[in-house]
Amino acid sequence: MKQITLLFACLLQLLTCFAQENISIIPLPVKLTQNEGHFILPANISISANDNPELKTALAVLSDRLTIPTGFHVILNNSGSSVIRIILNKTADPELGNEGYQLSVTPKKVIITANQPAGVFYGVQSFLQLLPPEIESNSLVNSKTWSAPCVSITDYPRFGWRGLMLDVSRHFFTKEEVKKYMDQMVMYKYNVLHLHLSDDQGWRIEIKSLPQLTGVGAWRVNRTGLWGEFLPALANEKSSDGGFYTQDDMREMIRYAKDRNITILPEIDVPAHSLALIASFPNLSCTQLPYSVNAGFRSPVRDDNALCIGNDSVFMMLDKIFTELAALFPCEYIHVGGDEAYKGFWSDCPKCQKRMKDENLKNVDELQSYFVKRIEVILKSKGKKLIGWDEILEGGLAPEATVMSWRGMKGGIDAAKMNHHVVMTPWDYCYLDLYQGESSVEPLTYGMCRLTDSYNYDPVPDSVDEKYILGGQGNLWTERVYNIRQMEYMTWPRALALAEVYWSPKASRNWDNFIARMEMQFPRLDAGGIKYALSAYNVIYTPVRAKDNRGLSVKISTEIKGLDIYYTFDGTNPDPYYPKYNGEPIYFPLGATQITANTFRNGKQVGKQVTIKKDELNTRLNQGRHQY
Ligand code: ACM
Ligand code: ZN
Repeated sequence: MKQITLLFACLLQLLTCFAQENISIIPLPVKLTQNEGHFILPANISISANDNPELKTALAVLSDRLTIPTGFHVILNNSGSSVIRIILNKTADPELGNEGYQLSVTPKKVIITANQPAGVFYGVQSFLQLLPPEIESNSLVNSKTWSAPCVSITDYPRFGWRGLMLDVSRHFFTKEEVKKYMDQMVMYKYNVLHLHLSDDQGWRIEIKSLPQLTGVGAWRVNRTGLWGEFLPALANEKSSDGGFYTQDDMREMIRYAKDRNITILPEIDVPAHSLALIASFPNLSCTQLPYSVNAGFRSPVRDDNALCIGNDSVFMMLDKIFTELAALFPCEYIHVGGDEAYKGFWSDCPKCQKRMKDENLKNVDELQSYFVKRIEVILKSKGKKLIGWDEILEGGLAPEATVMSWRGMKGGIDAAKMNHHVVMTPWDYCYLDLYQGESSVEPLTYGMCRLTDSYNYDPVPDSVDEKYILGGQGNLWTERVYNIRQMEYMTWPRALALAEVYWSPKASRNWDNFIARMEMQFPRLDAGGIKYALSAYNVIYTPVRAKDNRGLSVKISTEIKGLDIYYTFDGTNPDPYYPKYNGEPIYFPLGATQITANTFRNGKQVGKQVTIKKDELNTRLNQGRHQY
């Protein structure tokens, strides 16, 4: 018995060792060889680096991680005998480009080599991912061997544009929260933070020549509860909820981003989604009705949230706004939105109609195109390029515009075929505000974008020349993202999948391998106090119309393979002693009105228990919505 126990203990240790040996880097590096042995972090860590101020942040991030959880000390020097060496190539290695790096970990030393500081920064991120997950902890972790497996890595990105969009209009996130989001982005080598700075629900950036924009447009009445169900402003109610970034705040955020190889792309969404602007300056809409900033209530009548394109004051105002933004943001692009404009008010507006007549515009699509083209001229005069959502194709694309394709891939394909640059963000693969699993056990939202959808998507459709696809983004709209914890929950792990889509070679895509690495990232996120969703472990119910007359049947599956599913019709809590699902559609027994199932791995619960009514399955079947 003693021998068996010993054998079991050895086996367990071997298994634990094996688990630690597995390398979990996300996004998967281009070339990775695992070698014999380990590098053990010494208590006094000497790091040498080129004398280059642009390496300062990479070194600070590395030092923080190697000291805070370990209690060790870092000594920066120029000695050739340092255990960690950071080397900027004197002659650029063309394989690495501007963001690539080489990482060599041997038992004696760690060497990160790159052409540019950005590559060093990413080499540091990969090295940290080789160390135990607790390296992400912000407090001291005792009794740990801080070891990394020996590897040789050569790595560089597939796309230069690897973005996340954060909507700071629907819910305002503070400067510190946005920095925290950036800290998380760079762990997975994202390099563009697209900030949606204006919408019907708030204007978020100081424009010094137009103080009313933040005086009025940044504030709305305070509501708590479910977005979309809120009451509109009561008579004389104070607008106390919101906020904005001063230009000094934004400069600080831009600096923070630049130090981490992130470009902040500012978006001012025009001509529609402009109620915060219109609330500040009511003369800018066609109807000129007074509005307050929308606090998350559904208006029973359509709000006139679009700018009047017949009104020259609109262009004068936008010139002022874009002049200040162009001076503030180093990004070569300014995003001008352009999405979802309701054009009905333009059809009824004498000024807009006059504009159409004067400019020989055949319809309101061409009127919007006129608007975007005029904005492109303004941006160009300030040294900036225009990017907009794919609706800017309607009525004719502005001559040098870049298209952000969100309603699918078609807009991006059309633009690329016209030799325009494209950033791909099709909603069904890239929208981080959608459900990521069975809706009844998720916080209320809409639509569906599962982890598998994000992982299996490719931003380059067969029919287009890859050179026009700059890359892609994950987009987090925040109507129902009330706080930073929900921001993290909606982002991770879908943005782990997208990080791999945008960085790693397409040929290396492998779902099972990704899931294994993702599961090893979770303890890292836990150690860093970062929330993430486990929705991919939940069951997926797919109603099936029975061919015979036995009524409805249902298939149960999971995104993550190899889980055991147990189910019941009696409303109790299924566990591994209950009937096990065998992969075939199951019929509802006569009179049963609901089914409950859950997932297990090695007898341990890994999913959330999900109950679904037979009526709901029938509704989904009839609506063709199988998997919400
Ligand atoms: C969008 O989702 N309206 C760009
Ligand atoms: Zn008008």
